[in-house]
Amino acid sequence: MNFEFTDEQKMIRQAAKDFAERELLPDVIERDNKSEFPSEHIKKLSELGFLGMMTDPKYDGGGMDTISYVLAMEEISKIDSSVSVVMSVCNSLVNWGIEKFGNEEQKEKYLRPLASGQKIGAFLLSEPEAGSDATKQRTIAEDKGDHYLVNGTKNFITNANCASTYIVIAQTDPEKGHKGINALLIEKDAPGITLGPHDDKMGMRSSDTHSVMFTDVKIPKENRIGEDGFGFKFAMQTLDGGRIGIAAQAVGIAAGAFERALNYSKERKAFGTEICNHQAVAFKLADMAVKIENARNLCLKSAWLKDQNKPFGYASAMAKLYCADTAMYVTTEAVQILGGYGYMKEYHVERLMREAKLTQIYEGTSEIQKIVISRTLTK
Ligand code: CAA
Repeated sequence: MNFEFTDEQKMIRQAAKDFAERELLPDVIERDNKSEFPSEHIKKLSELGFLGMMTDPKYDGGGMDTISYVLAMEEISKIDSSVSVVMSVCNSLVNWGIEKFGNEEQKEKYLRPLASGQKIGAFLLSEPEAGSDATKQRTIAEDKGDHYLVNGTKNFITNANCASTYIVIAQTDPEKGHKGINALLIEKDAPGITLGPHDDKMGMRSSDTHSVMFTDVKIPKENRIGEDGFGFKFAMQTLDGGRIGIAAQAVGIAAGAFERALNYSKERKAFGTEICNHQAVAFKLADMAVKIENARNLCLKSAWLKDQNKPFGYASAMAKLYCADTAMYVTTEAVQILGGYGYMKEYHVERLMREAKLTQIYEGTSEIQKIVISRTLTK
């Protein structure tokens, strides 16, 4: 077993770290306060090739492995998860889904501009009444012969406004249950699509989240990904990979908070010494470090399995569950170590704590990951 990263992987990690510290850190608090989408930062991120980093160079992607992606996600998430979530949705959910399951025409038309970073994608699965129970899609893609007519509402959609290309999961034949669901490629400017207001969130406040409404949106049959009825399995397999990205995001949030708490504890004095010398703080630091190391290893293992073309859904559910819980634990402890300062915005850890909470909720709650894990164990 080799725990060493290659020179290329180290270089990508360093490039992501430099980008995050130079471009994102200076105004991350301001953007969070204003819920302001980081358009300019995302443009630079795409110019650096991070939005299509795993896609085959044949389609203008970076051709990098999942390990590199995870390392880059961690570095960017240490500073700003409103930016890393854009990277995660583009790479893991949209680009990978089209590359793995789309046909050649779809790859040429949709994947190429996404992989090169000219366009941004969004993945529309969640609905007001179908979040965890994803088979209960109320958005209908009615089969009209040569096209589908799409009606319904999606909510909590990341990249809803900044994306040009949507992958929309919708029900075509309700009698067939999950076997009647399809995944459709839909351009955001198609007639009949409207967006709700920007969602005012607890954390990742500057990411671009909206509801999306479809009213008689006409979509040619050729925009369906895979065979008729493949949409649910498409969504599940795509989310298996998406969970690796969110696990990496959670590791980054935890590591970012830990670095700040560690540095603070070595400088702040109380009762005659730096607070890291008090066991009450030292034990916290030790527990935080162990959990982050475990979380990172689970995340890297799931990325490695994916790179080896081995089954990775069980590993990615474990990684997502453990990394998200670690992010919540570590950020809460970081706020505690910083005390009153930890509660103040300028010290960053309160924001990281708010961001950590979302990693336990989106791309499948922690409870959903436990369902995936326990079903694999008992089947
Ligand atoms: N890979 C391939 N096939 C899969 C699969 C997977 N990972 N998971 C399930 N399937 C297949 C099953 O084998 C089954 O097929 P058959 O009927 O042919 O045997 C079919 O799909 C139905 O599976 P289940 O009976 O297991 O379905 P279920 O209703 O019990 O649900 C679930 C399973 C795991 C709970 C699923 O509904 C789920 O993952 N829910 C969470 C959805 C989610 O993650 N939403 C997040 C939204 S996206 C987001 O957050 C993005 C963002 O903006 C950042």
